[in-house]
Amino acid sequence: MGRVQGKVAFVTGAARGQGRSHAVRLAEEGADVIAVDFCEDISTIGYPMATPEDLEETAALIEKTGRRAVTAKADVREATQLKTALEDGIAQLGGLDIVVAQAGVAGMKGQPPLQAWIDVINTNLIGTINAIQVSLLHLKEGASIIATGSTAALMDTHQKNDPGNDPGGMAYVHSKRALSAYVHDLATELAPRGIRANVVHPTNCNTNMLQSEPMYKSFRPDLEKPELKDAEPVFYVQQAMKVPWVEPEDISNAVLWLASDEARFVTGAQLRVDAGGYLKWYDYHN
Ligand SMILES: NC(=O)c1ccc[n+]([C@@H]2O[C@H](COP(=O)([O-])OP(=O)(O)OC[C@H]3O[C@@H](n4cnc5c(N)ncnc54)[C@H](O)[C@@H]3O)[C@@H](O)[C@H]2O)c1
Repeated sequence: MGRVQGKVAFVTGAARGQGRSHAVRLAEEGADVIAVDFCEDISTIGYPMATPEDLEETAALIEKTGRRAVTAKADVREATQLKTALEDGIAQLGGLDIVVAQAGVAGMKGQPPLQAWIDVINTNLIGTINAIQVSLLHLKEGASIIATGSTAALMDTHQKNDPGNDPGGMAYVHSKRALSAYVHDLATELAPRGIRANVVHPTNCNTNMLQSEPMYKSFRPDLEKPELKDAEPVFYVQQAMKVPWVEPEDISNAVLWLASDEARFVTGAQLRVDAGGYLKWYDYHN
């Protein structure tokens, strides 16, 4: 208990899935949370986003731990919305120590409309940068920034026809690669100021993004309408350990560690929580 006691965390995409899990885990360990989410569907993304009720549920779960929650409906693609939400949260909670920039969408493989490419890049890459940019002037020595990448950013995507070789589609892969490079350079810039920045790379994670018809189709392109039972056996290709996915809490524990002072000298890391998936693709020297 108390690993981030008295700190304030800003979490994007906090209404459900990994974002909710991170927000609640940080609260369990003593942080107050500014929790934001778009809470609207995106027409080019083939599965529903979170709802306002989901965001309320996140706030209730944070408050159940005894910590404070400030919520706002904000679209990470719009920096001004994030800035307003963050500054309102800081005014209520008294500061900012932890940034978890993790809202994201998957646009799937094949030939999606160009608008899907734009929405994925704008949410995953520009949205992550926006969340960090609006936070920077509020961060002091000891602060920690954590962005969510994906093992998709680390995969060799040349084998175009392998099921699961570009989960979420090429815009997704590209957005996560670019945000990884951005955080690497940001960490270099911030290190002399005592502010850390790291990327967590989840493998398949048991959330609505993975448990969606478009993702099942991405792993089972041979079937017209694949279901969980069809996709689950193929989900194992992403991991070396014998699991189809990890749970949001597995990612939250990595986020919590990076947020805490236990990781006070860890910066610029690309931390894989991937049940060994990377080991299947690369030799040590790569
Ligand atoms: N689930 C996986 O298998 C997996 C694997 C690797 C990485 N990731 C990444 O993890 C992160 C969290 O995804 P998840 O698995 O919890 O999926 P999810 O779909 O359950 O959660 C994503 C959340 O982001 C919100 N969101 C989407 N667009 C937004 C926008 N423009 N502005 C604000 N909020 C927005 C959604 O409403 C939702 O609450 C994403 O960055 C995703 O790319 C997921």
